[in-house]
Amino acid sequence: MSLVKIMKFHKIIMLGIAGLVGYAAIAHAEDAASRGAAIVDEWCRMCHLQTADTPDPDMAPAFEKIVRREGRDEPYFARFIQEDHFPMTTFRLFDHEKADVVAYLMALQRDGWTRR
Ligand code: HEC
Repeated sequence: MSLVKIMKFHKIIMLGIAGLVGYAAIAHAEDAASRGAAIVDEWCRMCHLQTADTPDPDMAPAFEKIVRREGRDEPYFARFIQEDHFPMTTFRLFDHEKADVVAYLMALQRDGWTRR
């Protein structure tokens, strides 16, 4: 094999690896978002509406609405999720669950995440 051919071959392999790594990163983020969605369904739905629900002043807003508020970026949610929010005073998530919930919120904000 000539040197040029070897170099080309090398490049193709490197591109293949870069593609796989990129794919794995996206798949990983989606896993986190899916886990976050499940956590939200389990722990947050007694107060937070779903988008399809009729608006109810006695309920907390849908996350689809919350992520469209001004200044709701990843650092904001990461900070918010560390604190208790009224009237949610008694409830605790593990740190990895908090991270998953933030991943879910970011996916929701980015592409209107729906369950996959
Ligand atoms: C006991 C009721 C209750 C539960 C359970 C609850 N929330 Fe809330 N949440 C509220 C209320 C009330 C607000 C304030 C309404 C508003 O921001 O308009 C709120 C607001 C929020 C906001 C908006 C913060 C902001 O500044 O825009 C986020 C994000 C949020 N909740 C996340 C969660 C997550 C994640 C869970 C579940 C792990 C959860 N909440 C469970 C009642 C609740």
